[in-house]
Amino acid sequence: MNLLTLDPTQDPEQDLILPSRPHPVHKTPPAFRNFVDVDGICWLTFDTPNSTANVWNMDTLDELDSHIEDIHRDGLIRALVIRSNKERVFIAGADLKNLLTLPPDELNELIAMGQDVFTHLESLRIPKIAAIHGACVGGGFELALACDWRIASDHESTRIGLPETQLGLIPAWGGSTRLSRLIGLPAALDLIVRGKLLKADHAKRLGLVDEVVPVENLQALAKKLALGDTQVKHPHFHFSQLWPIPRVLRMKARGALLAKYPWMKHETSAPLMAVEVVTQGASKSFEESLALEQKTMRELMASSMTRSLITTFFAKEAASKKLPAALVNVPTRSLTNVTVIGAGVMGAGIAYALACKGSRVLVCDTTADFVARGAGRINQLFSDGLRHHALTKLQARDAQDRIGYTFATPPLHHMDLVVEAVVEDLRVKKALLADLAKRCGDQTILATNTSALSVAQMAEGIPHPERVIGLHFFNPAHVMPLVEVVALDQTSPEVVATAMRFVQSLGKTPILVKDSPGFVVNRILMPYMLGAVQLAERMRDPWIIDEAMLEFGMPMGPLRLLDEVGFEVALHVEKTLRAAFGDRIPKTDLLQNMKDAGMLGCKNGLGFYLDDEEPNPDVLPLLKTKEVPGMRSKLEISSHLQKLLQAEAARCLEDGVAASAEDIKLAMLLGTGFPPFRDLFPLSDTGILPVSSPGFQPGPSMNAG
Ligand code: NAI
Repeated sequence: MNLLTLDPTQDPEQDLILPSRPHPVHKTPPAFRNFVDVDGICWLTFDTPNSTANVWNMDTLDELDSHIEDIHRDGLIRALVIRSNKERVFIAGADLKNLLTLPPDELNELIAMGQDVFTHLESLRIPKIAAIHGACVGGGFELALACDWRIASDHESTRIGLPETQLGLIPAWGGSTRLSRLIGLPAALDLIVRGKLLKADHAKRLGLVDEVVPVENLQALAKKLALGDTQVKHPHFHFSQLWPIPRVLRMKARGALLAKYPWMKHETSAPLMAVEVVTQGASKSFEESLALEQKTMRELMASSMTRSLITTFFAKEAASKKLPAALVNVPTRSLTNVTVIGAGVMGAGIAYALACKGSRVLVCDTTADFVARGAGRINQLFSDGLRHHALTKLQARDAQDRIGYTFATPPLHHMDLVVEAVVEDLRVKKALLADLAKRCGDQTILATNTSALSVAQMAEGIPHPERVIGLHFFNPAHVMPLVEVVALDQTSPEVVATAMRFVQSLGKTPILVKDSPGFVVNRILMPYMLGAVQLAERMRDPWIIDEAMLEFGMPMGPLRLLDEVGFEVALHVEKTLRAAFGDRIPKTDLLQNMKDAGMLGCKNGLGFYLDDEEPNPDVLPLLKTKEVPGMRSKLEISSHLQKLLQAEAARCLEDGVAASAEDIKLAMLLGTGFPPFRDLFPLSDTGILPVSSPGFQPGPSMNAG
């Protein structure tokens, strides 16, 4: 039930309501309701029929505009409160699906319309209050910026900000212009360029909202503000903060972006364009700044980069909320009691992520020392989480209370799920699974976090193999958004569907994959990383490879990534993949030679880079002197390595490791940061082929289900 009682019949002002003027007839059922109370306050409620969200399109903007016009003409209304009747959404911004399908002239019309309607709203000569409960993002916050007061509920669903740059867009309905005038240019620039969403209290600290209250008090506060009898004050930003030399800020912001994302030099980049719009707009007139927003938005909407970012956004949304068609009607159960075996890097991250989302977690390792080390890791994650405001003190304490530790081997019959994250050794994992099968109930789901080993071999001979599944989290497990869900032929549809829903409940995206060496991500990544090492072995300056891939758009170069993964793990995965795919895995001695020379990557601060992130000069004596012909420029290097990624991605699709090219691309995007604007499947125009994989058979019983 919605906590805001918006039905006039339930409203405290119900017996005082005056009928409002009817508004013009629209093509779609009305999305707004309004009533005017006896104090002359107009309560305008956005409540799109048959939808959990409110979004802007031509119809909803038009409807809002006619309400504003009514208020303009009605001399008796003394204040306007805009609110939503959705449980978790105030206004979710523009309707992106609609944006993608509009022809250019209608798109331009829509961009102009949003600006006009919000300017119309701003011009009302009465107090205007946005009473925000739930997501208030993009065009939703741009509406709020056109109001005089922004008040927000402290509910966890309330998120406020302008995330447009994340989708290759900029705030173009006045957001780029109004925010710097509200909170000062430096803070506005930072928020818009990063596209960050804030919780209500953080938004208040930065001045995005004026007051934060429990949702039950939101309406009362709105009324007080409307009547002008309140102690609430607008946060005050000095004029000097508003105009601190926009050109200097522009240079700084551009420099920081290009240093972090060198690919932006060559591509249409929304964050870079946002820097221009926000800094230039700050020294222009309001109208000129709005015109610049419009012009830039039109350019961005015409770019393939923006379209691929929006398409990818939809693919991710679908994968993180829906199940594959074959599983939609399969019953699922909730998994509350979980055991994590192995308190190493992955076990600690998984246990922390699960406890933060409400699971009761028992962490097991073999000795008291290993358990203590694991507990130390987990406590460190809580400290980091608190420092970065990822959770409150209360949430951290509750989550910590949900974690228990043991180095014994207790019965685990009451467990809903056991995830093993012990060393990557088939014999160890097989023995562990056999032991767990005895200690757990028949219904307990047994999951492995293996990076590349065969889950089927691990599960050989255990009773009730229908409960075995792979849950491949990525490192760091509490941060990385992807989990590969590995279904065996014998895994039951209920177990697969339950595991996928469980992953979604963690706020992560599950991709269903077949039990095949390296699954999707490691299989595609390994030839690429080893290909990079093979090149490195024959280059005078191997670190140029990382520079080349950063310019290509990867968030981290392959050599630095290998340092992060660790040479021991990488060599282990290489062995598994070489056994499966032979010469397709590029041959190189360098990694083994580095390991033999005592270099293990980040684990001991000695890899291709040192602890201080400087190149490690001790790598140079291990290189071969002969250069690789045709691999001098960064473009040649990135194109060679991109081909390795593409070749293995195509084979993954052919072998049916995932259901579609779209799934494979999404897995690479979420698991490795593969740039969504690059082609992984070069035959398609968009890089995303919505084709089914011919060989994808997620288990016979599942198809039947
Ligand atoms: P780790 O070496 O940090 O931790 C392994 C832990 O398991 C150690 O604490 C060890 O004492 C414990 N252990 C070993 N045998 C055990 C047993 N029989 N019972 C209970 N505990 C036992 O290893 P890490 O990096 O956490 O990897 C664990 C698994 O996760 C491996 O299968 C690995 O391939 C996989 N993985 C690793 C990733 C990474 O980046 N490190 C990423 C994704 C998966």
